[in-house]
Amino acid sequence: MQIKDRADILEVVQDFLSLKKKGQNYWACCPFHNEKSPSFSVAPAKGIYKCFGCGAAGDSVKFVMDIEGLSYPEALKYLANKYSIEIEEDKHENLDEYKAQQTLRESVLIAMQFAQRHFQKLLTDDDEGKALGMSYFKERGFSLLTIEKFGLGYSKDDWHDLEKTAVKEGFTEEILEKAGLIIKKEENGKTNQYDRFRNRVMFPVYDLAGKVIAFGARTLKKDEKPKYLNSPENEVYKKSEVLYGIFQAKNDIRNSDNCYLCEGYTDVISLHQAGVQNVVASSGTSLTEGQIKLVKRFTENITVLYDGDNAGVKASLRGIDLILEQGMNVRAVVFPNGEDPDSYVQKVGGAAFKDFLQENAKDFITFKAELLLGEVKTDPIRKAGAIREITNSISKVPDAIKREIYAQDCAKLFTIEVQILLTEIDKILIQKGLQESKQKQEEQRRNAEKQKETKNNSSNFYFDDIPLPTEEYISNKTPSENAEYSAYNEDVSAEDIALFQKKGNKIHHAVAVHEKECIRLLLKYGSFLIENDTKLWQYLLAEINELQFHTPLYLQMLTMYKEAVSQNIVADDSYMIRFGTPQIVETVVNITTEKDKPSENWHAMHDITIPYENDATQLPETVFSHILRLKGEFIDNLLENLGLEIDAQHEENTEKIDELLTEFMRLKEIQKEMDKPLGKSMRR
Ligand code: CTP
Ligand code: MN
Repeated sequence: MQIKDRADILEVVQDFLSLKKKGQNYWACCPFHNEKSPSFSVAPAKGIYKCFGCGAAGDSVKFVMDIEGLSYPEALKYLANKYSIEIEEDKHENLDEYKAQQTLRESVLIAMQFAQRHFQKLLTDDDEGKALGMSYFKERGFSLLTIEKFGLGYSKDDWHDLEKTAVKEGFTEEILEKAGLIIKKEENGKTNQYDRFRNRVMFPVYDLAGKVIAFGARTLKKDEKPKYLNSPENEVYKKSEVLYGIFQAKNDIRNSDNCYLCEGYTDVISLHQAGVQNVVASSGTSLTEGQIKLVKRFTENITVLYDGDNAGVKASLRGIDLILEQGMNVRAVVFPNGEDPDSYVQKVGGAAFKDFLQENAKDFITFKAELLLGEVKTDPIRKAGAIREITNSISKVPDAIKREIYAQDCAKLFTIEVQILLTEIDKILIQKGLQESKQKQEEQRRNAEKQKETKNNSSNFYFDDIPLPTEEYISNKTPSENAEYSAYNEDVSAEDIALFQKKGNKIHHAVAVHEKECIRLLLKYGSFLIENDTKLWQYLLAEINELQFHTPLYLQMLTMYKEAVSQNIVADDSYMIRFGTPQIVETVVNITTEKDKPSENWHAMHDITIPYENDATQLPETVFSHILRLKGEFIDNLLENLGLEIDAQHEENTEKIDELLTEFMRLKEIQKEMDKPLGKSMRR
């Protein structure tokens, strides 16, 4: 558990998002859903984050899992690495065994890292590497520092150099192929394999966290095609989600609140060397939404740097509409004819380069309007086409005020009435609105289904895996006796309902609400005295002992709670966050931080009143009413099943029917007894 303790939530999140401090907490736009104003908050004191928009919540491990798409152990390793904590796996002496244990994903990452180091060593230490690779980079003006910063390397003019070295180190051919480092070919019933990258200078591609996930390899020969040979997509490399240089640039992007976007590897590297470090490259492909979202984690402002040839500019215009759609502010600069950012910065130097950007960066809509206008000359038909295209782009801007300003600027440029543009934009928006609402409905339906599945699966997955506290924790634990009071909270969530709609489960979803409430009360007020010397947890656990919790997640949490009790710990929210599975962590954060008011909705839905926890004297009553309801639901359920069973009996089977009826009546009596203290209005 050392890792969870060391990982500072603020530091961890800040690697991915730029946070602004407001009061005790820090805020940003949520990386897990689309939004314009920040509802994602980080509470450093509690070590948790939570989005009030989409409900994403958890601790540092959960955050890393979700943002990087890692498994739980992978996320722990990420953090261990960040904080230079040794974790057990690193101590494995038997390399072969260790490698075999890794998941494919991790094996591929390890192979990539190995290859990067190998190529780098060849560049600096190998005669061929020095003569060909190093001298090439020197010629291009890259300093040793720059070469190191970007991990540049060289691959030998040899069909099996990497393969042989890697196999000697214990990597399997299979992993090397999966990593795209070697190519396997069947020929005449024989498999042939050889290195993919040969006699090229190597540009490793890093992900946000600084792991090597791919390579770009440039030929050293003048006219060889392809000029750049790239890694194929694999377990760790999805081309459309990656921007070259993002790892080296992310802090500068955040600090300067702007991101320069160019085309090539060498553009990024040369700009860095010249002191312009907030720069990434799309690597010659058209921009994707995934790439834009990546930038959006750090800034809302993008400046696109175009090579000085018109073909490239026109081809990329569509990609820019995507950026506009994300609500980002886009500017554009075109370099003089024949220059790309790399060649231009090498020519004029960093300072003059910055001046050039300052003077030439134009707002994108204006940029595009001028570009289109330049083409149409005086042809009225082509002018109409150009206007349509520009209104289309403007309609992508989510902010209405910005749209209006753009429309005014363009009206001036095209010398037409602004109203014509605005009407045209409205038409597009209405059309789009209609389409989107249809699509949204369909999407929501599909998501709901998917969520149902994964939730059910994941709760089963963690089910055997009840987390236990450490010895150290047990010996230091002093349960918090004076937790603060906050009011009653929250609705049953869609997930709870989904959990309860599992096949054949006839229990009303209100059971989930009461189970959740019991957990919440245990975590918040477990050590409160509610009667003479009975603590809330003792009372509650004794009362629900005969009931089975039905919601897998809450059952798991209850089991974890009981485990803690058996070790003399009264678990609270921080205990669960510290030792819980990711799913538990998320739930705990949600149930202990959500809105402080009782939900109106809840009242309307169930027509019941629950005493609020506005003072300690009401606590026993609150607990009591939840227990009663839980039992009530339990009995309802038994009654319903009995009813079905009776219906299903054959008429002549009187003995069995009598037996079932007797049980039915007995339960009815109990139900009546239970209804008394709750009062009529409190049951459905
Ligand atoms: N690219 C690619 N495959 C190619 C050509 C280009 O993946 N066959 C990508 C590379 O990421 C390259 C970018 O597109 O960096 C831009 O291409 P280009 O302008 O041709 O290359 P430069 O970056 O200018 O490279 P250099 O200066 O070394 O010629
Ligand atoms: Mn170039």
